[in-house]
Amino acid sequence: MPGLAGVPAARSRISDVDGQGGVLEYRGIRIEELASKSTFLETAFLLLFSRLPAHLELERFTADITRHRRIKFKIIDLIKCLPETGHPMDALQAAVAALGMFYPGRSVRDPENNYWSAVRLIAKLPTIVAAFARIRHGDDHVPPRDELSFSENFLYMLTERVPDRLVADILDVCLILHAEHTMNASTFCGLVTASTLADPYTVVASAIGALKGPLHGGANEEVMAMLREIGTVERVRPYVYAKLEKKEPIMGFGHRVYKVKDPRAVILQQLTRKLFAQYGKSPLYELVEEVERVGLELLAHKKVYPNVDFYSGIVYEQMGIPSDMFTPVFAMARVAGWLAHWLEQLQENKLYRPDQIYEGEHGRRYLPLDQRG
Ligand code: ACO
Repeated sequence: MPGLAGVPAARSRISDVDGQGGVLEYRGIRIEELASKSTFLETAFLLLFSRLPAHLELERFTADITRHRRIKFKIIDLIKCLPETGHPMDALQAAVAALGMFYPGRSVRDPENNYWSAVRLIAKLPTIVAAFARIRHGDDHVPPRDELSFSENFLYMLTERVPDRLVADILDVCLILHAEHTMNASTFCGLVTASTLADPYTVVASAIGALKGPLHGGANEEVMAMLREIGTVERVRPYVYAKLEKKEPIMGFGHRVYKVKDPRAVILQQLTRKLFAQYGKSPLYELVEEVERVGLELLAHKKVYPNVDFYSGIVYEQMGIPSDMFTPVFAMARVAGWLAHWLEQLQENKLYRPDQIYEGEHGRRYLPLDQRG
């Protein structure tokens, strides 16, 4: 089965998607409810420990994450040594792998140790992402500030400005929407690594590697490139027609599982409207609405609708996040899902060792070098 399409790779109780109904649930709770009532850290707790935290548990978890946001100066030094033209996902992967070397209590059999590893990873990914974004331009790393919320602090470390409440709240919802999505390439990659009983830093570093590829994490960056290529509202219709004529995809449309509008896109569309109502419409906002209108006219009959990536790029851009940082921001959120799958895998671990269908030859003779043509 190429790509293991349709082959269950694990039993899981973490999240579920109903692609026909447009329903996404984390631990049985619908994404719409989490997006409107929860925070990213509360949702991360839910994913990791399969229940909503009690008041004191949430306070402790938030305090633990807040206390572990700082990264060691040697990690900063490592980031400074990376080429400034390098892809931020490579920098993130390298820094996360290096992080594991500083926290050698690596026995994955110890629940206490696993808790602190999860806390460190969720806490430190935003600091690494923001540090690389600044250092590559020759700017200083901005250390985290404890009194800021998770999302406020990330935007502060990135831009050196405390964001407006609305902007931070919208980023927090974006992180909730990206925190988990059943079995997919990066989660599977992390699970395979986890099944060898490798430490969680290595598990997350391998998942980051899988997320980097353009077939997985990078579609929102491509939506922004498409909007820039189109340029003006009048050019949307000819652009979409020309793409479909050439049988090329409209970026941000379609999904393997969802055959209705992606529920995350519905939420993001509302957030986009809120954001641009507050800060004034940008030409890109008008473009994105027109692409959706024309795209739906031409693609809805094929059950191809906007997906989560259709709106996330324009939201991130409005927040001042550079477009090559979109996938690292995705990783900052998805680390919660990866870690939840890692903990689940450890409960009944079995080393992944799939089979293959060998299609090569047998019994070939070894030809000495001087006899080869
Ligand atoms: N633009 C135009 N036509 C499309 C698109 C699209 N984005 N997506 C699907 N279609 C068409 C297909 O060409 C096909 O047409 P046909 O029946 O005339 O041949 C029909 O719709 C059915 O498509 P499927 O084959 O069922 O779609 P599939 O599940 O193979 O593809 C995919 C899903 C890869 C995501 C595709 O929709 C795509 O390339 N989208 C653009 C990239 C993108 O936005 N990716 C992000 C996905 S969300 C995420 O990963 C977080």
